[in-house]
Amino acid sequence: MNDIEAQYNAMAPMYSFLMNDEINISTFQEVLGNRLTELPEDANILDCACGTGLHAIWFAQKGFHVYASDISKGMLKEARKNAVKKNVRINFLQSSWEDLYKKLPLQFDFVVCYGNSFSHMKNPDMLRNSLASIRKILKPGSPFLFDVRNWENDFKHPSQAPSRLKKTINGKKIEIDYSWKLNGWNVKCQFITQIYDRKNDVTRKYECDIYPIKYEKIAEACKRNGFNQVDRNFFRKGEYYYVFAI
Ligand SMILES: C[S@@+](CC[C@H](N)C(=O)[O-])C[C@H]1O[C@@H](n2cnc3c(N)ncnc32)[C@H](O)[C@@H]1O
Repeated sequence: MNDIEAQYNAMAPMYSFLMNDEINISTFQEVLGNRLTELPEDANILDCACGTGLHAIWFAQKGFHVYASDISKGMLKEARKNAVKKNVRINFLQSSWEDLYKKLPLQFDFVVCYGNSFSHMKNPDMLRNSLASIRKILKPGSPFLFDVRNWENDFKHPSQAPSRLKKTINGKKIEIDYSWKLNGWNVKCQFITQIYDRKNDVTRKYECDIYPIKYEKIAEACKRNGFNQVDRNFFRKGEYYYVFAI
């Protein structure tokens, strides 16, 4: 098991609680725009970093044939439970991005890799092999959508303050802080999530490895691996960007 799988396995039972699913889905819808109308009604869609299933379930609720993969068994276990709760059928499989083309039996009309997941690419080889693998499982001319933290902006304007989400769970006020420990470009850095329950003075901390990468490197890798059209746009006040690669 590699580090990232172990880190997400540890976070999995808390993941949906740690994230803001409502904002996540509403910005996802903005990012998609009217792209779904361009897909065939019986389109096959793959979410290849499905996490706990948020976006895969959303697609399944829209009536698409959905496959969902992730490297973390723990995240997949939560995703399966969430799919059962929402009463949708999804084909789950455990896979790294690099192995997808060996494991999947069909080609897709749309592949999605959302939630800044591409920032887990450790090195240029992994980026290249992952993009080549994803390209192979897409039908010709079909889009691949991914989003990435705007690292250029973070390095230009380093922020000392973590961003904070406040939640009330069973009447208890809980604060969740998100911060990035940035050590430089293309080196191991950390995304840190901390939960404070101030009343009971409890703190829980989760860390996962990220590797900030410049957009120009991503765009170049896309073009070298069969994506001829690579379009980028910013969202969430410029903190992230998304890319449609075809
Ligand atoms: C930040 S989470 C995003 C999850 C989900 N897409 C969301 O937005 O809620 C990143 C996900 O990428 C998965 N992941 C990390 N490295 C991966 C790899 N090499 N291959 C496949 N999945 C990977 C993690 O296990 C994790 O579930």
